[in-house]
Amino acid sequence: MSPNDTSKPASAQWGGRFSGGPAEIMEKINASIGFDQRLFAQDIAGSLAHADMLVAQGILSPEDGQAIADGLDTISREFEAGKFKFSQALEDIHMNIEARLHKLIGEPAGRLHTARSRNDQVATDFRLWVRDAVDGLDEQLRELQTVLIDRAEQHAALIMPGFTHLQTAQPVTFGHHLLAYVEMFGRDRGRFADCRRRLNESPLGAGALAGTSFPIDRQHTAAALGFDRPMANSLDAVSDRDFALEFLAAAAIAMTHVSRLSEEIVIWCSDGFGFVRLSDAYTTGSSMMPQKRNPDAAELSRAKAGRVFGDLMTLLTVMKGLPLAYSKDMQEDKEPVFDANDSLALALAATAGMVGDLEPIPDAMRDAAAQGYPTATDLADWLVSVAGLPFREAHRVTGEIVKAAEARGVMLDQFPVSDMQAIDARITEDVLSVLSIDAALARRTSEGGTAPDNVRAAVAAARERFLET
Ligand code: ARG
Repeated sequence: MSPNDTSKPASAQWGGRFSGGPAEIMEKINASIGFDQRLFAQDIAGSLAHADMLVAQGILSPEDGQAIADGLDTISREFEAGKFKFSQALEDIHMNIEARLHKLIGEPAGRLHTARSRNDQVATDFRLWVRDAVDGLDEQLRELQTVLIDRAEQHAALIMPGFTHLQTAQPVTFGHHLLAYVEMFGRDRGRFADCRRRLNESPLGAGALAGTSFPIDRQHTAAALGFDRPMANSLDAVSDRDFALEFLAAAAIAMTHVSRLSEEIVIWCSDGFGFVRLSDAYTTGSSMMPQKRNPDAAELSRAKAGRVFGDLMTLLTVMKGLPLAYSKDMQEDKEPVFDANDSLALALAATAGMVGDLEPIPDAMRDAAAQGYPTATDLADWLVSVAGLPFREAHRVTGEIVKAAEARGVMLDQFPVSDMQAIDARITEDVLSVLSIDAALARRTSEGGTAPDNVRAAVAAARERFLET
């Protein structure tokens, strides 16, 4: 068939104004049913609330209202049973449901769209969908925090190297490291909660763009759908997609956290590090190399950040420069949001699974933590607080001692005090009390620090802040 073929019958939806049907390619570019069928439940809920309000306002007869409600109920059951047939010719979820309703109940179906446009309808459906998505992701983020906190409690005192520049810096505990991610995912939950708070206003009743001449009650539909209030401006109501952008931005930031943790897992289970062992459940083999255990779940979770950033960029670009009010460009809002939600949900589930299952290898972590003079800062601090040197001078003296110890191939706590004294006479035997990595760790008791006792307290505090609310 030629792309310009218009031999189809006149449009079923638009009736009077059209004498020919759309070109095949027009139908194809116009249709959103392939993806917006995910708004099914929200569309039914929106229509039920609208019809109910129309009856309450005397715009629709109670009989017609009842017929509509029964019909929508039948349609819901058809959908749940997998029996609802979607048609591309009917363009989108709204027209698909309305057409089916018409088949089921006849004339009253045609009254449902009184005082409503697909513009306020789709804005309403999509807000409801994003609201549910936020609730689902919040639950998953909370679950991931739960796993991280449990593992942090278990490993509150397990020594590992803390890094800067991916070079051993100072010893920390594995529990402390995991709790850092609990904070990140906590902020993600906060961002999603902000998004939810701002999105929870109802566009329904804005009509196509200007409101309606019917005596509708927007408070009624807003309350029925669990919105806090109707949106104040009808033009804004149909053209705003900030809520989707905020959702995508929050998802993108959350994915940066997922990808950082995934990257660390990949590093930790590499041969060079060998800090953790991933369970069989979260590794894959190689088709050629029998010895391999690949951290594919971590790698894919890391990579999915790329998709979600792309989703955010897609919608920002679609929305940029759109004149008020609705333009069909905005139909392109849904796929990036669905994709970001699905990608983040999957990555969060995989991450929670990996973190729950992974087994740290304490000897490897401790050995690595002892490399690279991680207690040099403690020596410098001792020179300041006990021997009374200014920090800059202590820094220089420590540097000389590290150099000498390195030349001899020994750790600081094995380097003879007499040799330290040759570098600075103010050093005494007492310095030995701070030079082991255990001592260094136990002394990091400042608020938010890594001392095991702090970490245990931080575990309890994190449970209270994030899980008991
Ligand atoms: N499928 C459309 C969308 O997702 C519904 C709104 C259509 N409105 C219109 N004026 N053509 O945006």
